[in-house]
Amino acid sequence: MNTKEFTIRSEKKEEQREVENLVREAFWNVYRPGCSEHYVIHVLRDDPAFVKELDFVMEQNGKLIGQNMFMKTIIEADDGRTIPVLTMGPIGITPELKRKGYGKAILDYSLEKAKEMGFGAVLFEGNIDFYGKSGFDVASKFGIRYHDLPEDADSSFFLCKELIPGYLDDVTGVYQTPQGYYVEDSDVEEFDKAFPPKEKLKLPGQLFE
Ligand SMILES: CC(C)(COP(=O)(O)OP(=O)(O)OC[C@H]1O[C@@H](n2cnc3c(N)ncnc32)[C@H](O)[C@@H]1OP(=O)(O)O)[C@@H](O)C(=O)NCCC(=O)NCCS
Repeated sequence: MNTKEFTIRSEKKEEQREVENLVREAFWNVYRPGCSEHYVIHVLRDDPAFVKELDFVMEQNGKLIGQNMFMKTIIEADDGRTIPVLTMGPIGITPELKRKGYGKAILDYSLEKAKEMGFGAVLFEGNIDFYGKSGFDVASKFGIRYHDLPEDADSSFFLCKELIPGYLDDVTGVYQTPQGYYVEDSDVEEFDKAFPPKEKLKLPGQLFE
């Protein structure tokens, strides 16, 4: 996608480290002191569930300013079926350009590409204030439950969008997060040493210690 303002295209192999640094900048101190997402994307690219056709970066004036990626996963349906779906992320926009519409632009573009590839639905954990503007709703409305979450727990963080209308009409079941997203803190620490030093801060609003 080319506009006067930016280009969205596939990630190139030779810019992987630059993208990891972009993700590190985008997530640093947002959900925890420091972040793990730059290591997560490093691991996910080699995962069999990774969808390389949906690995996008956003470029402006020769500089990378955003990225998004998808993984294949499943819903274990209550009737015994296995329903293939996508999960998404990390998605990140460079800190100085947040809240200017770039995140929504790469999100909507990549969802359209996922739809063109024939995927039926996308589910993941996120903030409805952002994703709601791109057609996501809470997954409970589709009858999909988050793995390992007690029945009465708040699941409003767990979101879903059908890419094929009606794809989940006759499905209830449990969504599984791909294993690739779970990384060891010690591996993140080690990986992070290759990046420029950054201060880890405890900030209000972080979800994890
Ligand atoms: C989340 C992120 C990708 C959104 O991209 P962005 O370019 O900042 O967002 P946009 O400007 O496209 O936002 C579109 C709309 O979503 C809403 N929105 C965006 N980020 C939001 C947030 N953190 N909280 C609440 N609403 C948000 C805004 O209302 C915005 O609409 P507005 O223009 O009317 O204010 C980006 O802020 C980012 O990289 N954040 C850090 C990493 C992260 O949290 N990634 C997502 C993990 S699930």
